[in-house]
Amino acid sequence: MNRRETLIIGASGFVGWYLMTALRQDRPVTGTYTHHRLPGLISLDMTDTENMRRVFDQVQPELVLCPARHSYVEGVERDPEGTRKFNIHPFSPLLELVRSAGSCLVFFSTEYVFDGTAGPYSEDAPTNPINEYGRQKLAVERMIQSALENYLIIRLSAPYGWEYQNKNFVVNLLRDLRAEKPVAVPCDQIVTPTYIVNFVCAVKALVVTGCTGVYHVAGSEPMVRTEFAKLVAEVFDLDSTLVRPVLTSELNLLAPRPVSAGLKTERAQARLGFRLTPPKEGLKAMRATEAEYAACFSELQRKSCESD
Ligand SMILES: NC(=O)c1ccc[n+]([C@@H]2O[C@H](COP(=O)([O-])OP(=O)(O)OC[C@H]3O[C@@H](n4cnc5c(N)ncnc54)[C@H](OP(=O)(O)O)[C@@H]3O)[C@@H](O)[C@H]2O)c1
Repeated sequence: MNRRETLIIGASGFVGWYLMTALRQDRPVTGTYTHHRLPGLISLDMTDTENMRRVFDQVQPELVLCPARHSYVEGVERDPEGTRKFNIHPFSPLLELVRSAGSCLVFFSTEYVFDGTAGPYSEDAPTNPINEYGRQKLAVERMIQSALENYLIIRLSAPYGWEYQNKNFVVNLLRDLRAEKPVAVPCDQIVTPTYIVNFVCAVKALVVTGCTGVYHVAGSEPMVRTEFAKLVAEVFDLDSTLVRPVLTSELNLLAPRPVSAGLKTERAQARLGFRLTPPKEGLKAMRATEAEYAACFSELQRKSCESD
């Protein structure tokens, strides 16, 4: 039995892939995928309890990170019952497995547990989710807090960075700005843009130093989404006039969004030996590493095709 093993459930996703890359530098890590098979990952479907049990038997993890999720904010709002079957129900058996293995669980939550009337929020601010995604995340936070002592709940906000599946706000925005397409961006939503490379270093540092409880890990500056989008254009030498400010209410979204949100990060910052990255610095780092990540993702793609 290898008691130093780390299990990442959802290592094929945006956050999970970066977590795996950072943690693998100095410990054995097993990562899982469900639909997007990447080289070196094992298959796991959290809705299948037997599958989870087999993976725990095989890996015997001392540390379990779970950045898995099913569907996005709009998808969760459209199908609350269907998405609860993944986003909430499998956590009962998972927490039981974590408890009997004596592992530490790291769960990834969101600023959407707050209502967006008085952000940016500290960890102890009262929660009051206004959409189903926030309600589901808060439900799991509470399950973890009542079942485990050895846990870390990390809330994050607007993560960005190069991504194999090209899903996050910045990569989508860059695609449109480079195609000279105007982009409607909410001018009334405040977030704390979080550079993914810095985020996973911070998570790793919190884990390694044995922190438990709830932590906000995000960028160092809350920003209105339009300001952030214009900053993206500026750093990448693109036309910032293509960023069209709109009110969230004009976007005809199904799920209400917490508008004045964002996360205060003093608690995490006090435990880290380095700074959480401000948005301009994160975007410059992204620009400087574009070719490196493009090469890395095309290699991943090549290896995935080979193993099909
Ligand atoms: N991205 C954001 O804007 C944001 C903001 C705040 C909080 N968060 C939180 O951060 C965490 C990571 O988000 P992300 O953007 O990295 O998500 P993501 O890219 O969508 O990745 C989700 C992961 O979950 C896996 N998964 C899907 N169905 C599964 C199942 N049935 N069993 C086990 N794993 C399954 C996916 O595997 P396959 O792809 O292989 O199916 C993938 O690895 C989530 O908890 C999310 O709520 C994200």
